[in-house]
Amino acid sequence: MPDDMPDGEVSRRLTRRRTLGIGGALGLMAVTGLSASAALARRPSFTGAELRSAVPLPPAFGVPLPVPVVLKPVSTTGTADRYEVTQREVSSEILPGVRTPLWTYEGTFPGPTIESRRGRPISVLHRNELPVPTVVHLHGGRTPATSDGYPTDLVLPAGWPDVTGMTHGMQGMDDMAGMTGMPDPRAVITRSTREYAYPLDQRPTMLWYHDHRMDFTAPAIWRGLAGLHIVRDDAEEALGLPAGRRELPLMITDRAFSADGSLTYPSLDPTLRTRPGVREPYLAGVLGDVILVNGAPWPEHEVDAARYRLRILNASNARHYELEAVTDDGRRLDLVQIGADQGLLAGPVTLQRLPIAPAERYDVVVDFAGVTVGGRVRLVNRLGSGRTGEVMAFRVARRAADDSRIPRTLSADLPAWRRSDAVRVRDFVFRAGRMNGGRGWLVGGRPFDPARTDVSTRLGDVEVWRLYADVHHPVHLHVVGFRVLARGGRPPQQHDGGLKDTISLRPGEMAEIITRFDGYRGRYLFHCHNAEHEDMGMMANLEIT
Ligand code: C2O
Ligand code: CU
Ligand code: CU
Repeated sequence: MPDDMPDGEVSRRLTRRRTLGIGGALGLMAVTGLSASAALARRPSFTGAELRSAVPLPPAFGVPLPVPVVLKPVSTTGTADRYEVTQREVSSEILPGVRTPLWTYEGTFPGPTIESRRGRPISVLHRNELPVPTVVHLHGGRTPATSDGYPTDLVLPAGWPDVTGMTHGMQGMDDMAGMTGMPDPRAVITRSTREYAYPLDQRPTMLWYHDHRMDFTAPAIWRGLAGLHIVRDDAEEALGLPAGRRELPLMITDRAFSADGSLTYPSLDPTLRTRPGVREPYLAGVLGDVILVNGAPWPEHEVDAARYRLRILNASNARHYELEAVTDDGRRLDLVQIGADQGLLAGPVTLQRLPIAPAERYDVVVDFAGVTVGGRVRLVNRLGSGRTGEVMAFRVARRAADDSRIPRTLSADLPAWRRSDAVRVRDFVFRAGRMNGGRGWLVGGRPFDPARTDVSTRLGDVEVWRLYADVHHPVHLHVVGFRVLARGGRPPQQHDGGLKDTISLRPGEMAEIITRFDGYRGRYLFHCHNAEHEDMGMMANLEIT
């Protein structure tokens, strides 16, 4: 029993899970109780089960790194930009010589990148030409609730039956009644299109947009519904950080491929129309055996012998990575962290190894100057084994001038909330549990119900949240950024600095975060960003009044 679990209630609840046995690590914990989870916290582990591809996999570093195109606005005024995105099915070549059907934003995976400026509003009209309802969420966006992509605010495809009998209370879903059986009177449902408005009144950072449909987020993202969104401002650009071709967004995902080239996913209902959830043994998370960066398998990128800014997103459903940059002669290059989920740190932090959980973003600078021309630097994943231990490589092609720098002070506008500012402290346990006679994932002992308000807070209130986990849970709050106060009663880890919107809870761990609920009033979410957990109950409502 770790000393960071003072709460007898928590350990009792966690131990009560004995009879469930979801997945490998969880099964072990179920047998041995919480002390096993403390042991798990001390060794690399992951949550989920890995799918095996049924096609031959390409060798590593055989394809170039794609960089997603930047979306052009359809119209621009002095004060705002309008974009349009069509969600449609395409067939693409992800593995060389293999055709893979994908669900995409604008025909590509990742979708096109939106580049915006702090405080300059944009709107994005999404047109749903996919066979199922969709919802678009801008992850990390400080967005009014009406455009935040609440999971029941569906955009129905043309020809989809009327909303009654659709998401809720559908046939064949009796065993999932608690997830979907309850109507949501507040849902705002549109047909074919929806215009999302983003004020972008927030710190510059890399956000991402992805599908957020109730019960079906995980398979929709898996099929390709994810893209990047970079917010910039003058102050950040004046710092002299590596820029232009020396700034690279890296969206890391894992996938698996069936014999016919399609993406494998263990859905109970492969049409993603009615019955949510995944088959055993994937309830703890779906992992693939192919690592994609910007949609390409184990790519290689040619670089100058100079500093590069790598803007890394783990967009995998359930896979965690621990990244290292290793030269061919076995040297480790520093990963100089300059930013977190919600923008620049106060000052740079030098890391050798970077853990990254689903939905987290890290902004790091790597200097290739010390690498011989022709040499290679591999980005490896210390949590992987075999092929999943490799991510991508950089090939140093030439010497080059480098006038970039990493200032000692990166930003001065980080909120400095203190515990004494908090008007309340809340506790949330993220754990496996019974859900309507089946297995699911719970927040505070309950599966998600859109009609229930789990947390109600006042605009402007500062709160401390204590988050408890049984296994790995990357916990994400919509609309606000937070700071990590403590992990397991100890100071945060080296990479926990800055402003975050997703925190990786480790098995058996309790972490404390602090935030101020400012921005907008309305109905938002907080949830686990292991996408399978999220679909199987692990979300809760956050009402800001
Ligand atoms: Cu990445 Cu609720 O979101
Ligand atoms: Cu989000
Ligand atoms: Cu989780």
